[in-house]
Amino acid sequence: MVLHVHSGHDNRRDKSVHLPDELSTLDCGEILAQSLAPGLIVYLKGDLGAGKTTLTRGILRGLGHAGKVKSPTYTLVEPYPDARIATYHFDFYRFSTPEEFLEAGLDEYFQGAGCCLVEWPDKAQPYLPPADMEISLYVSGAGRQLNIQAHSKEGEACANRFAAHQAD
Ligand SMILES: Nc1ncnc2c1ncn2[C@@H]1O[C@H](COP(=O)(O)OP(=O)(O)OP(=O)(O)O)[C@@H](O)[C@H]1O
Ligand SMILES: [Mg+2]
Repeated sequence: MVLHVHSGHDNRRDKSVHLPDELSTLDCGEILAQSLAPGLIVYLKGDLGAGKTTLTRGILRGLGHAGKVKSPTYTLVEPYPDARIATYHFDFYRFSTPEEFLEAGLDEYFQGAGCCLVEWPDKAQPYLPPADMEISLYVSGAGRQLNIQAHSKEGEACANRFAAHQAD
């Protein structure tokens, strides 16, 4: 994997990685897992099939979760209390209105010490708490491009740890 660090539009350092195949998305997730911290809110953005759930599988593997990782498309949230950092994986694709986020009582998950990974965050706006870090995935040739943007001090620290691990 090659890491390119370039300046973002807001002059923070965005981090960008090319992922040639599914295995590299899983590996990238495992590396990301070593950088995460309790309470971190991570938005996972990208079109249908961009690789958000695949990346989450890698993250959970990196956090020591040995079992399956199901897409939360129907359940809205899948909890992983056995992970090294308790993690909640959300998918709001099926929301027809953002109010469903409040009706389902999901806001409570975002107050605790768990790490929250959120697919389709825009579907729950404006109710979803802001992201510490935003990961975007794009189709790029036969593979994917992954970009990380930090939006808080904690997110910035996580993105910097990720860049340092990548360089190893
Ligand atoms: N780096 C990659 N290169 C090529 N294919 C990839 C890569 N990463 C993941 N894929 C493939 O992309 C497909 C879709 O992945 P995934 O289900 O993770 O997408 P998603 O973003 O979660 O989609 P959805 O929005 O529907 O939940 C899978 O078949 C997976 O194998
Ligand atoms: Mg998915």
